[in-house]
Amino acid sequence: MIILENVSYTYPNGSEAVKEVTLTIDRGEFVGIIGHSGAGKTTLAKLVVGLLKPTRGRVLVDGLDTRKTPVSILARKIGYVFQNPETMLFSATIREEMSFALRNLGIPPDEALQRINNALESVNLFKPFDHSPHTLSFGEKRRLAIACVLAMDTDFVLLDEPTTGLDYYRCVSLFKSLAELVKKGKTVMVITHDTDLLARFANRVITLEQGKVIYDGEARELLINVEFLRNHGFSPTHLQILAAKLKAKSPTAEDVAEALARVLSAK
Ligand SMILES: Nc1ncnc2c1ncn2[C@@H]1O[C@H](COP(=O)(O)OP(=O)(O)OP(=O)(O)O)[C@@H](O)[C@H]1O
Ligand SMILES: [Mg+2]
Repeated sequence: MIILENVSYTYPNGSEAVKEVTLTIDRGEFVGIIGHSGAGKTTLAKLVVGLLKPTRGRVLVDGLDTRKTPVSILARKIGYVFQNPETMLFSATIREEMSFALRNLGIPPDEALQRINNALESVNLFKPFDHSPHTLSFGEKRRLAIACVLAMDTDFVLLDEPTTGLDYYRCVSLFKSLAELVKKGKTVMVITHDTDLLARFANRVITLEQGKVIYDGEARELLINVEFLRNHGFSPTHLQILAAKLKAKSPTAEDVAEALARVLSAK
């Protein structure tokens, strides 16, 4: 369980990025985190994984206070995929990139290979193991960074905008893999702008605005609230736009076709 108690964070330059956030995230939850650029999503993520320590309040990960626990211990509990995958890749080959952390954890080579293959499969990355991560495309680097974290098999996984640079098929495929983890009792937290994916996969959405939580609850409840989404500058899901267009009508097949065409052309 992850607990944030009245957590605030101010950067050394005085920028107050997270303000009085109180949250509990249980095992087996699939949580989406949305918010505009600069809302404090990445800062919140770094507070959760212990890379930043709260200026006020405290963060507990399975009872461990992030202020008193080394990041290396927290990393065994929470896997974190950085917003920029390039900051995560430092090895000469894909093999080394994937096996480094597993070796440090003392995972036997056979099991490590199994985990690496499973993780690469779940992000659809099939590249020769001896290739350098730096020769990969941006989307491939991101998928490799995600695979490195998945191979760690942590109880909590936090991904910061993992869908950037991925085509829609790969986004859906990634979310399906994350949903599988949730089915196994793991906890997934994803920062994303994609409300369609959240409507389909997340059970809870946390919305940040200027460092504060302005919504925390059922994903469905939020995502059908087109007025709230529009008022806060988020785009409603495509299905919701479609439903709104059909509302108060007894739609014919032509109405559905026309509404669908409008929704699709709006994208
Ligand atoms: N290293 C830093 N030093 C000072 N201020 C920072 C630093 N990193 C972020 N900030 C500020 O903190 C606020 C929140 O930034 P953060 O990166 O958490 O937002 P975000 O929601 O992740 O945005 P994005 O969607 O663009 O990734 C912003 O006002 C930002 O300018
Ligand atoms: Mg960010």
